[in-house]
Amino acid sequence: MKDNVLNIKNLTMRFGGVTAVDDLSLEINRGEIVALIGPNGAGKTTAFNCVTGVYEPTGGVISFLDNEIAKGTTPDRITKLGIARTFQNIRLFNTMTVLENVLVAKHMRTKHNIFTAALRISGREEKRVQEEALALLEEQGLLHLKDEIASNLPYGLQRHLEIARALATDPQLILLDEPAAGMNPQETLELAEFIQQIRDKYNLTVFIIEHHMDLIMQISDRIYVLDFGKLIATGTPAEVQENQRVIDAYLGVAEDA
Ligand SMILES: Nc1ncnc2c1ncn2[C@@H]1O[C@H](COP(=O)(O)OP(=O)(O)O)[C@@H](O)[C@H]1O
Ligand SMILES: [Mg+2]
Repeated sequence: MKDNVLNIKNLTMRFGGVTAVDDLSLEINRGEIVALIGPNGAGKTTAFNCVTGVYEPTGGVISFLDNEIAKGTTPDRITKLGIARTFQNIRLFNTMTVLENVLVAKHMRTKHNIFTAALRISGREEKRVQEEALALLEEQGLLHLKDEIASNLPYGLQRHLEIARALATDPQLILLDEPAAGMNPQETLELAEFIQQIRDKYNLTVFIIEHHMDLIMQISDRIYVLDFGKLIATGTPAEVQENQRVIDAYLGVAEDA
């Protein structure tokens, strides 16, 4: 039986006169790597923002692990439910160290918030949290930079820190918004392997937006294609690559994008 992790039904998001997402339905099952692709402005990031509570959708229903996410559920509540994300424009705590960035995320999953955490967490729990944070940094090749200020890291490593921070919240579903943006071909190849590794290691389900088609075709189990907010195709990488509507709307130009 399929184990449904994310289910989006008839999602619509309007900003004034712009319908950024138009009646989008899709589902993602446990362990899948599913891609959302399409031209710039197609509504991909907006769809992520609806799932993560950044926007309250104009219409539609989003369910996580068979439970409907109530309208108005805040982003931090959604993190606690088990959905983590990274951002198209990297968002780190720029004045904090690399380690502190991961520790803040770890505390989001404990019953304390970051302000009470320092006062109430026992020494033993704090030590465990520290060790887990250091392990995540090691996995991302960032351990030797743990005391560096986050904004001093080169771009590619900031992307890795963002992934470490997302993993620190112990998610079941991770949303990656253009994680390979700004990466060279070699880094992109490594990222592809890395995404598959963390999926296996943490039993994750992955929902990814990317323009690097080689990465998407390599790692995706299934792909959804958006154009002007509407779903225009869905299928395996092979099916989507041959779909004439997708070629016309997107793939024909993707190589220059
Ligand atoms: N907060 C917002 N206010 C108004 N319009 C928005 C907002 N966010 C996105 N849009 C519009 O919605 C459309 C989809 O944008 P976006 O989801 O960022 O596309 P993509 O991620 O596919 O490039 C665009 O026309 C964009 O200008
Ligand atoms: Mg976007």
